[in-house]
Amino acid sequence: MAREFTSVGVVGLGTMGAGIVEVFARNGIDVVAVEISAAALERGRVTLTGSTDRAVAKGKLAEADRDALLSRVTFQVGLDALHSVDLVIEAVPEHLDLKQRIFAELDRVCKPEAILATNTSSLSVTEISVATTRPNQVIGIHFFNPAPVMKLVEVVRTVVTSADVVADVEALCERLGKVDVTINDRAGFIANALLFGYLNHAVSMFEARYATREDIDAAMKLGCGLPMGPLALMDLIGLDTAYEILDTMYRRGGRDRRHAPVPLIKQMVTAGLLGRKSGRGFYTYERPGSPVVVPDEQTPVASESALADGARGIAKVGVVGSGTMATGIIEVFAKAGYEVVSVTRGAEKSAKVFESVKTSLNKGVVRGKLSDADRDAALGRINWSATLEHLADVDLVVEAVVEELSVKKALFASLDEICKPGVVLATTTSSLPVIDVAMATQRPADVVGLHFFNPAPIMPLIEVVQTIRTSTETTATAKAVCATLGKTGVVCGDRSGFIVNALLFPYLNDAVKMLEASYSTADDIDYAMKLGCGYPMGPFELLDVVGLDVSLAIQRELYLELREPGFAPAPLLEHLVTAGYLGRKSGRGFRDHTRR
Ligand SMILES: NC(=O)c1ccc[n+]([C@@H]2O[C@H](COP(=O)([O-])OP(=O)(O)OC[C@H]3O[C@@H](n4cnc5c(N)ncnc54)[C@H](O)[C@@H]3O)[C@@H](O)[C@H]2O)c1
Repeated sequence: MAREFTSVGVVGLGTMGAGIVEVFARNGIDVVAVEISAAALERGRVTLTGSTDRAVAKGKLAEADRDALLSRVTFQVGLDALHSVDLVIEAVPEHLDLKQRIFAELDRVCKPEAILATNTSSLSVTEISVATTRPNQVIGIHFFNPAPVMKLVEVVRTVVTSADVVADVEALCERLGKVDVTINDRAGFIANALLFGYLNHAVSMFEARYATREDIDAAMKLGCGLPMGPLALMDLIGLDTAYEILDTMYRRGGRDRRHAPVPLIKQMVTAGLLGRKSGRGFYTYERPGSPVVVPDEQTPVASESALADGARGIAKVGVVGSGTMATGIIEVFAKAGYEVVSVTRGAEKSAKVFESVKTSLNKGVVRGKLSDADRDAALGRINWSATLEHLADVDLVVEAVVEELSVKKALFASLDEICKPGVVLATTTSSLPVIDVAMATQRPADVVGLHFFNPAPIMPLIEVVQTIRTSTETTATAKAVCATLGKTGVVCGDRSGFIVNALLFPYLNDAVKMLEASYSTADDIDYAMKLGCGYPMGPFELLDVVGLDVSLAIQRELYLELREPGFAPAPLLEHLVTAGYLGRKSGRGFRDHTRR
């Protein structure tokens, strides 16, 4: 029989604590909510009532239920109020000495059978437990932000946590409607160990002015379907908390340089820019605690028209290539009203591309997104050719041929001979340096990367890659074109992986390393990222979809260019590829797809 929890205590009512109080009270459990001062207590109360009022306003909570919820919570200053609760969850700032002091005090105050839990994200639960005389009743219950919304709880057992305590806490999580993964005490557990290297890397991109905050965030939201971009997430987590988590992970997790907090984070914390809770972090908020972003001096000013930025007018577009990307890109331009010249290596290839574009447009008609007339007009705008000479009068060329530098360079040299002056020459390469392609021409200022995502007609993101020779007019033109295609163009520098792949693949590689170390299972790691961080797919699901060979190739490129030791491909990934386990396309990757 699992233990009955009728009353719990929550210590610290900040970003996490207030949400945790709400989770318990919503599920019929009495809560004693404790803070360090009357002022902090009042802030916690305001956070809780604000959140429950919003739930009522959105129709997710009845008024009577809100009142019942609030009536279950008592607010107190000081730990003495926790003498008769069955379980305490501590959610004070991420400092070991502070947590140890609090646990020693809780051990003195709480009844002997009470379970003492910490919500720490990165500190050692074991080290916290030894501050008490009951380390077997100490456990980690790691909620995710915002606690009332995120489904995941990581239950962290130490080597001395008793099995009953683990089982009781697991049953409690179920009662709270949460999904738990139970794991051993290791820095960052599952989700943060995979998340924080990525967040820190995103901050370093911003610090290096590789891309703007808006573009970094839009890239990850639109390119990977994440619920929020990394910088907005840093603001939600709180920069002080994020700093402490990174610092602890760096020290406890093998001194991986990727966890050494980027200097900008410390500077922002020192300057009081803590994120949402202080009203300003990477973004500026309406007021402290508000989720509403307001414009500030970094907000891009929308120009009156793209032409004001020096963008050139584009009416006719050439697309070179006949693969998946070229086919999608032809459709996208034709649908947006551009006159398109498709150049393939022969009539047979052109016929195949034509059929694919038609099939895809027909699907749009069936789904009611396109009329018959629109489809016919789009197809009518495409001219089919097998000779580059037909690109003599286009305004923009998008190259989407095979991912081989020699082939792309030869093509750009030919385009340089054939195309009229002032044409924007774009490559869709996802891994080659754009500058190498640009230097095959006499007009590198006109060359830019336009990195479409697959499937091009659906994915809303394009990375606009500017080399050190790309002119501002060329970049402005490329951005303006993205907008006319109904897509968001994010501008970034010419580095391996651009924004999305550079941030995504090391995280996937880390997940493989975690599996390889037998810390957790593929299923639990996938759950952790989906339910704890709101990712649309877990890392192993995504790796199987993308293809393990493709993922390995991208990871190798990143490693070769940046020489970051943490980017070295996981040996398990290499072995699976060698064994022919490439993911869905080969029937087996991290999972067996033949039996489903
Ligand atoms: N922020 C996140 O996204 C997140 C997610 C999961 C877990 N965590 C973990 O949760 C814990 C709390 O983080 P947070 O982001 O909520 O921090 P926070 O700074 O927002 O809140 C901490 C609260 O603790 C209170 N406090 C400080 N000393 C106290 C004491 N002696 N007694 C009672 N209350 C005290 C503070 O007044 C403050 O309200 C940390 O261990 C953190 O790693 C944070």
